[in-house]
Amino acid sequence: MKVLGIETSCDETGVAVFDGARGIVAERLFSQAATHAEFGGVVPELASRDHVRKLAPLVEETLSVAGLDRRELDAVAYTAGPGLAGALLVGAGFAHAFAWALEIPVLGVHHMEGHLLAPMLGSDSVEMPFLALLVSGGHTQFVSVRGLGDYEIIGESLDDAAGEAFDKTAKLLGLGYPGGPQVECLAQQGRAERFRLPRPMTDRPGIDFSFSGLKTRVMTLMSEVDQSEQTRADVARAFTDAVVDTFVIKCRRALQTTGLTRLVVAGGVSANTDLRQALIALGESLSVSVLFPPLKYATDNGAMIAYAGYERLRFGERDAFGFQVRPRWPISELAPPQAEGAVAG
Ligand code: KG4
Ligand code: ZN
Repeated sequence: MKVLGIETSCDETGVAVFDGARGIVAERLFSQAATHAEFGGVVPELASRDHVRKLAPLVEETLSVAGLDRRELDAVAYTAGPGLAGALLVGAGFAHAFAWALEIPVLGVHHMEGHLLAPMLGSDSVEMPFLALLVSGGHTQFVSVRGLGDYEIIGESLDDAAGEAFDKTAKLLGLGYPGGPQVECLAQQGRAERFRLPRPMTDRPGIDFSFSGLKTRVMTLMSEVDQSEQTRADVARAFTDAVVDTFVIKCRRALQTTGLTRLVVAGGVSANTDLRQALIALGESLSVSVLFPPLKYATDNGAMIAYAGYERLRFGERDAFGFQVRPRWPISELAPPQAEGAVAG
């Protein structure tokens, strides 16, 4: 079964073909980062317009790289939410029209389920049940994964998501958008011992998070120190260490309370090398296997949507005629694959 995957939930137009027999056979990704950079963040209307411009040519390119005629596709999967409403509608509208013309099934996929399953696109097999730490620009959540579509959110951020904290800190450090990779890069020159920032909500029981206070502490710190490259790097180091330590502490707790022996870490922030190293070390100390998506599938992409779609379409799940998108859509509302009658959302 060959599934065309389409991702347009935010500022990346992602397209890929997943073949049940061969895995990902072709993929294309267009990042709108340059469009949004001058505004310091994603401008929703610009994002939608850019998806409109890029999506059809990217689909053509992906099919040509795959050496496939569109009539060889068996189904189409697209991101139905959560994300920016206008951006989601571009992908949903295209996917439905494309599938309708080809008379093949189409299915709206949950973006965070795409992230959650992305580690399976790597070489390691990932068995369920597992604990998932989802860390992206809009979400920071612990999900207890009992099976495909059987998800319970057992902890989450009460305010900013981790990616958002990276992006806001990047701004305070005078770095561009998107901030996470740039903070990571600057932190490499930083000295760990110079500043110490709090590890939010680690001094009380529980596995929820809060990152907005940390960002405020970065703001205060930046107003007190010189603005040299070295000082900014030291602040980036202190911020990264605070976030990474917080995740290590909370992951240890979540693993111990759930008794789960596999930890999957996914979403844009899972691209962070410091975080990866610290969680791998935690896994070794607890005899827990820690799995990440291949780096190129940590941030938004079409491959994870094609794959998540495939995992449901192969059980017969598909959208009814007509579609809706769900800008807000908790992952815990998903159900295991359903053979028919499923509308996106
Ligand atoms: O999953 P993603 O691509 O999009 C959403 O679903 O939100 O995540 C994007 C977020 C951004 O906030 C970005 O700054 C962050 O992931 N990010 C990183 C790194 N790469 C991306 N944060 C820290 N270190 C990185 N290397
Ligand atoms: Zn994402």
